[in-house]
Amino acid sequence: MTDRLAGLRAKREQALAGGGKARIEAQHARGQLTARERLSVLLDEGSFQEFGALATHQNTDFGMAEKRFPGDGVITGFGTVNGRRVAVYAQDFTVLGGSFSEVQSHKISRILDLAMEAGIPVIGLNDSGGARVQEGIRSLAAYGEVFFRNVRASGVVPQISLIMGPCAGGAVYSPALTDFVVMVAGTSNMFLTGPEIIRSVTGEDVSTEDLGGAWLHTSRSGVAHFEVETDQAALSLAKLLLSYLPQNNAEDAPRLAAYDDTFRVEDELDRIVPEDDDLPYDMRRLLDLVVDRDSILEVSEAYARNAITAFGRLDGHSVGLVANQPLQLSGALDIDSSDKIARFVRLCDAYNLPVITFVDCPGYLPGVDQEYSGVIRHGAKVIYAYAQATVPKLSVVTRKAIGGSYVAMSSKQMGNDIAFAWPTAQIAVMGAEGASRLLNRRALAEAADPVAAQAAFIAEYKEKFFNPYHAADVGQIDEVIEPRETRIRLIRALEVLRTKVQTSIAKKHGLFPV
Ligand code: HXC
Repeated sequence: MTDRLAGLRAKREQALAGGGKARIEAQHARGQLTARERLSVLLDEGSFQEFGALATHQNTDFGMAEKRFPGDGVITGFGTVNGRRVAVYAQDFTVLGGSFSEVQSHKISRILDLAMEAGIPVIGLNDSGGARVQEGIRSLAAYGEVFFRNVRASGVVPQISLIMGPCAGGAVYSPALTDFVVMVAGTSNMFLTGPEIIRSVTGEDVSTEDLGGAWLHTSRSGVAHFEVETDQAALSLAKLLLSYLPQNNAEDAPRLAAYDDTFRVEDELDRIVPEDDDLPYDMRRLLDLVVDRDSILEVSEAYARNAITAFGRLDGHSVGLVANQPLQLSGALDIDSSDKIARFVRLCDAYNLPVITFVDCPGYLPGVDQEYSGVIRHGAKVIYAYAQATVPKLSVVTRKAIGGSYVAMSSKQMGNDIAFAWPTAQIAVMGAEGASRLLNRRALAEAADPVAAQAAFIAEYKEKFFNPYHAADVGQIDEVIEPRETRIRLIRALEVLRTKVQTSIAKKHGLFPV
């Protein structure tokens, strides 16, 4: 018995040793943690239960018989984060470059299956050279097994992907199918085909960082949602993200003990919208003043900055915030911001987070490039996402809600539950100048004083539409509120809606405009 125990312990020791001292030192020299170190930072102390620590590949081709490592380059199991259960897998770059094998696939698939059945979020730590070349088709099929489960788990349990090293080729599609992608600046990258292949095929010369680094994916491609500086920061962010989310789609997110004054009024909100319509203001500041102190976590902050999508808290309850940002493109909706908003609204809906929308939008962005690139198709996603969402939906029109953007951004017709507007709200089919050009072309041409005639029309138009009262008259706005009292009005409205139940028509699935 003692010998057998000693045998087990020796195997375990071997599993703990990963790819050996030299490779671990190389990992550290790059400023990275090893897979086991990462898990020890992520999980509550002593909570990790590992499964599959002794699994090894059976391949003997290409000298692989001698290259067997317990665990086969991925560590899988369950643990807790701040007392809540999570499923984890961490690829170990020190073992065969973390390359993805059939055994890796079995281990990760097993974790995903158990997590789905038990309703537990999954956090994947990616650090891998991609499909294990020596396994050929088997490693490709292995990826397919994981992709399939990522899709099945989508909207059932939160899935968070931390990219902490290379993630190349088709491997990128597992993170891309999950809810959040976090990248570490400088040490992680994601691309389908690397710089060398691109150079040989298209002649384009691009560095790894410029092709698939964290900044590129968070600011330009939108593939990743967060960029962080270190491995530790990525792991902290994963914990923070979990704090806003439920364990699964059948639960509510945990409520924090309320730490901010429920009834806080903010005089600054009464002054935040400038008198001059053409001047911008910072919507992020506005949101900060409304929600619980320091509770905002922006998602895709650097991407499509003309829109803000963020988690926040109101009276300790987790909420999703969507807003136009007048500081960028005057807050207009375009292709990228439509994608950003639609994805976020669907995410909140999947995980039972109320969506609160702050509207200051002059409309969809005009432009040939936008039309050619399908702003109709992309803009439709915003409408689809809001209309489909059954969670409580609140809106606050702070200034402009013009044209299609009024309808799309959580209007009553999109199933919005309670619509507030500030006295500064402007709700109209189009801006005053545009309306004047459209309606008065002939009259202005014939007028004795066209400038005065135009000014008179604009003044009348603004008086009629550039306030919230016409919309309140016709029931499109439920209540015009003082900006300073926005926080308590939203908290009270959410209290009412907390037990909202809305059923949808049974169907296989709709055709989301992708
Ligand atoms: C098998 C691999 C491997 C792989 C790395 N290794 N990638 N083994 N299959 N895909 C091994 C190396 O041979 C090496 O083993 C060890 O891991 C460390 O790799 P190095 O190259 O020495 O490390 P480094 O210099 O840091 O370079 C890291 C790297 C490079 C940039 C990731 O390894 C690389 O370019 N790998 C291939 C990346 C790639 O093209 N992947 C896409 C594959 S196709 P030894 O024993 O020599 O130290 C794909 C399609 C999936 O993934 C489709 C799914 C649908």
